[in-house]
Amino acid sequence: MTTNAFGPPKTSSEALTAAAPDAFTARMHEISHLVAFDPGSWSQEMANEVRSIFDLRAENWFIHETDAYLAPLDAALQAGEIVGRHCLDIGSGTAIHETTLASRFDHVTAVDFSLQMLRNAKRGQADFVLADAAQLPFADHSADAIVLVNMFLFAAESARVLKPEGSLVFVSTRANETPIYLDPGDVAAAMTRLDDSSLVATTGATGPGCWTIVRRRTNDQSGKGAR
Ligand SMILES: C[S@@+](CC[C@H](N)C(=O)[O-])C[C@H]1O[C@@H](n2cnc3c(N)ncnc32)[C@H](O)[C@@H]1O
Repeated sequence: MTTNAFGPPKTSSEALTAAAPDAFTARMHEISHLVAFDPGSWSQEMANEVRSIFDLRAENWFIHETDAYLAPLDAALQAGEIVGRHCLDIGSGTAIHETTLASRFDHVTAVDFSLQMLRNAKRGQADFVLADAAQLPFADHSADAIVLVNMFLFAAESARVLKPEGSLVFVSTRANETPIYLDPGDVAAAMTRLDDSSLVATTGATGPGCWTIVRRRTNDQSGKGAR
């Protein structure tokens, strides 16, 4: 396991939560990059570290439900004209985005590995599944869209579950100030390295947030690369 400027990875979520925000953000950035490019780095220890952090935050997660927080996902879905039958909101937290997603998909499944997040989730149109995004309990090529808002990208597992013509939507509500963050170029790189040239990424910014959509190249996109 790698170390960072703040020393070895911490195992006490309370210590990390209490740490300076920049230390917390740096650690989440580090994990975001590690799991996107080296999924084998996602250990049980790391999963416990992350889960404990979000378990502690679950009860007050509703404070994030603001127009500014919701806007980048809405903008991405509009820009990509993304609709479909089944959407997976992976790392859904308390399902803040389910109203947005239910307006575009017949069926939304909110997936999180924090039981506390799911216990505090809005009950609406979504189904809820307690699972680790590193090992999703869904069939190959079963989802029309995978949505990740401020959530780690497990690229190979996302590609396995996504339909060949499906869309992966990666949103960072505060761009690179978001703790769980990958820059759009890295989102594209993590996905395209699995499937060389057939995927194409489009990116955009909305307010303080940014988003990346990765999907299979269509004929009218030939010649436009992701990077
Ligand atoms: C920053 S929160 C974002 C929650 C939600 N997407 C939102 O925008 O309100 C990240 C969420 O991802 C979940 N998470 C992190 N790693 C995960 C994993 N490997 N599998 C499933 N959920 C995970 C956390 O429990 C937490 O609820």
